[in-house]
Amino acid sequence: GAHRPRLTFLGTGYLGATYAICFAELGYEVIGFDVDEAKIAKLAGGEVPFHEAGLDELLRKNLASGRLRFSTDYAEVAEFGDVHFICVGTPQRADGMGADLRYVEAAVSGLARHLTRKALIVGKSTVPVGTAEWVEQLVAKHAPSELGVEVAWSPEFLQEGHAVEDVLRPNRIVVGVRSEWAAAMLDAAHEGVVTLAATEDREVPVVVTDFATAELVKVAANAFLATKISFINAMAEVCEAAGGDVTNLARAIGYDPRIGNRFLRAGLGFGGGCLPKDIRAFQARAQELGAGEALRFLHEVDLINQRRRSRVVRLAADMLDRGYGPAGPELAGARVAVLGATFKPDSDDVRDSPALAVAATLGKAGADVRVYDPQGIDNARRALPDVTYEATMADAVRGADLVCVLTEWAEFRTADPAALGELVSGRRVIDGRNCLEAAEWIRAGWQYRGMGRPDGEA
Ligand code: UDX
Repeated sequence: GAHRPRLTFLGTGYLGATYAICFAELGYEVIGFDVDEAKIAKLAGGEVPFHEAGLDELLRKNLASGRLRFSTDYAEVAEFGDVHFICVGTPQRADGMGADLRYVEAAVSGLARHLTRKALIVGKSTVPVGTAEWVEQLVAKHAPSELGVEVAWSPEFLQEGHAVEDVLRPNRIVVGVRSEWAAAMLDAAHEGVVTLAATEDREVPVVVTDFATAELVKVAANAFLATKISFINAMAEVCEAAGGDVTNLARAIGYDPRIGNRFLRAGLGFGGGCLPKDIRAFQARAQELGAGEALRFLHEVDLINQRRRSRVVRLAADMLDRGYGPAGPELAGARVAVLGATFKPDSDDVRDSPALAVAATLGKAGADVRVYDPQGIDNARRALPDVTYEATMADAVRGADLVCVLTEWAEFRTADPAALGELVSGRRVIDGRNCLEAAEWIRAGWQYRGMGRPDGEA
């Protein structure tokens, strides 16, 4: 093929590490950079510092191939790369609304200062619209002007648990560029992805657009997904009031291809490192731009999402025959098993996890909360130290007055309700993700409550 540019990925968190490893797999020469020496040492030693299916193996394979290296040295990265992808984190600001761009600033200026030849700096982190222009100004300030360093924007759409596939086989590539040269460089940088698709008889659509649109695509996609989830959770609320079953309602509307059945599962709502933070930052940015009104509905999307958590707490109080005061329920002395701590199954991520938020509230209300999660316990313990963690599902459930299934891990979906019933002191279950076979649980003598579904009494 054509000359393949050498690629660097700055920030080896979840995003950057996954990209660096997968692009080496596609045949590019790659350096992953981070200021965190411990992280870089781990990666260079063949260990992925987070959990993502299939990534460990690809890391070791590509370290061995010699195409993949890791570095903490800006000068080395600047000297090596033709295209530099900025993959650092953009956490929520302390005020909870806007995005904190200090890591973007550090990475761009650190790199730009060391550049000695023309290169393309490509933003990938999720940022407020307008950031690409600001990055251009940073580059103008820090890179030697005679080099003509350029900036582009190319958002990513990684889903945890599918990240390797999402990088190797994306359903689209989006690039925001200002020049033919930048477009050509990004073409070359994506050639491996396009070629792989061609060998598999697929095509990857490429949307080439301006900076603002490329930045907006990412937050618009996440806002849409969050809205879809909150829509079906709003229908769950209505079903709860009207005595309907939202799982059948979702099935029925999902057959309409204009609606589609994906991201239409009612339950405890969305969490994780992206959707909750992104819809808040998006609203804040729209407000600054004078378009706040257009995104006012995202405030409702957020509120609907939060109400699902309260709903589970209320159900818990109801099922345990406890009072519910202005400060919440009174659960002193109740033993509650919480199954699930991560924000979704097949992940160890507990950021903004609805399951953990519910566990925390139950604990504050006085319940003796025993949490079990197949992979998230270590992270959960750090995020929420004051509940009890158990090493097995059976240990969490033993002696419980109430079992709450709050993340839909396969281990819980396939658990035997009769066997679990032998361990508990009260057969009460809240299915916070509508992931259990209600009829089986009811047959095994459990009082069952789902989300947006009629009550199931034993
Ligand atoms: C999301 C986007 O999907 C991805 O494209 C973007 O790049 C980053 O944010 P991720 O955070 O990994 O990815 O999680 P995702 O699989 O999208 O799930 C988000 C949350 O929504 C989870 O808490 C999940 O439990 C919840 N969800 C999802 C529902 O409650 N119902 C659904 O039908 C789907």
